[in-house]
Amino acid sequence: MGRYKILVVDDEIQNREYLAEVLIPAGYEVGYAEGGKDAIAKMSQDVYHIVLTDLYMPELDGLGVIQHIIESNLNCVGIIYTGYGSIKTAVDAMKIGAFDYITKPFKPDEIIVVIQKAIEYLNLREENLHLKEQLKSRYKFDNIVGNSDKMQKVFEMVEKIAATESTVLILGESGTGKELIARAIHYNSPRGGHPFVPVNCGAIPEELLESELFGHEKGAFTGAFRARMGRFELAQGGSIFLDEISEMSPSLQVKLLRVLQEREFERVGGVRPIKADIRIIAATNKDLDEEVRKGRFREDLYYRLNVIPIRLPPLRERRDDTPLLIKHFLEKYNSGPSNKITDFSKDAMAVLMQYKWPGNVRELENLVERMVVLCDGPVVNITDLPDKILAGSSDGSSCVPQIELPEGGIDLSSAVNEFERTIIMQALAKSGWVKNRAARLLHVNRTTLVEKIKKQKLQKPTELDHLNG
Ligand SMILES: Nc1ncnc2c1ncn2[C@@H]1O[C@H](COP(=O)(O)OP(=O)(O)OP(=O)(O)O)[C@@H](O)[C@H]1O
Ligand SMILES: [Mg+2]
Repeated sequence: MGRYKILVVDDEIQNREYLAEVLIPAGYEVGYAEGGKDAIAKMSQDVYHIVLTDLYMPELDGLGVIQHIIESNLNCVGIIYTGYGSIKTAVDAMKIGAFDYITKPFKPDEIIVVIQKAIEYLNLREENLHLKEQLKSRYKFDNIVGNSDKMQKVFEMVEKIAATESTVLILGESGTGKELIARAIHYNSPRGGHPFVPVNCGAIPEELLESELFGHEKGAFTGAFRARMGRFELAQGGSIFLDEISEMSPSLQVKLLRVLQEREFERVGGVRPIKADIRIIAATNKDLDEEVRKGRFREDLYYRLNVIPIRLPPLRERRDDTPLLIKHFLEKYNSGPSNKITDFSKDAMAVLMQYKWPGNVRELENLVERMVVLCDGPVVNITDLPDKILAGSSDGSSCVPQIELPEGGIDLSSAVNEFERTIIMQALAKSGWVKNRAARLLHVNRTTLVEKIKKQKLQKPTELDHLNG
């Protein structure tokens, strides 16, 4: 907060002047009101942190002013002052929400102490509000990071649908956090106290998937020596997460459709229908529309699953989340006794902000873990980054910074020469004059770079150059 503003409310001018003489030299900004009504008008025109009001005033008195502050939920504190004989009324004022009271005749020190206490209280209240907000979001989505508008929309959506029973379809490229979101939906839902059962439909061989999902009875097939529960049964009361749903075979798609329609299923080799009190959350990194068009995914099942779609944006569409995610993963992997990496350098961060992240958040997480293990720290520099990331950090839109042709034209060969010189110097600086790395940054081989350095007569700046500016 900048300077604190205090509104002095008194119908007697001498009192207003006296308080101003105490408060202004102490560094406070002071406004005045000539009575209760005037005070209410002033509070609506301007923001005051503290209202210091006389108790007895004609028309609206100090109690009325305090009442107005409380009822209008104004973010300021009211302090009342009164003559010695009316302390009881001052105590009444505190009961309705005044912060404190002062008795007349005023002692300057006393006024300042009460004002300081009020400011301390205001600051604590603000901090408390802030912490509560933080706590709320942390509990809600545990460890899911994202400040970008796109992720904030996802969080809003998750919050809304968690409370419902609707089937959810999560769409997004690999590593965008589909499973994380599925868990958030489950654990924030009324089913949160029951199991969350994930099944990766793409990782289980087709012939095993059916019994994995629905279980089997004894003797259902060769090798079924005893009856076994499937994942649907294990998920009773909770949620089942069908990951990579597009990989499900056509015959299983029919069986899943039936569960969705009739809310019951049978074990393989069984006849007894089992009620399915299960929420279904499915996910895929494929374009399901396309899979339907190509006849690889049943249209009716698609519609049954696609009741509420959630689309998770790839990291390259929310680059502003990168620093936050890095901080999150640094905290996660840096917790050991070594605790040596504190941050990424500005240059390194710039490269990471540019990189396309085909593996999305998972790729970023792996990178941070790797840096924590491999780097000496305390800061990860551009030279520490893997070549793949250095090579892929241009966004492909333009490889040349914007240059404008000057009015009077330009000498092409010297301009090209100068550009080459600048960009090579930058690559050398970024790579700490390690020529192999600089060459990689420029996508040329080392020999070519060495030739160019010779031709341009480039020299590594020495400490001395540095000092000479
Ligand atoms: N917003 C996020 N905040 C924090 N961590 C995240 C976030 N998104 C993803 N992660 C982390 O990235 C990794 C990949 O996430 P997850 O497994 O949920 O992705 P996915 O979309 O299911 O990927 P795949 O399609 O490859 O299965 C996990 O370790 C997860 O904790
Ligand atoms: Mg996954």
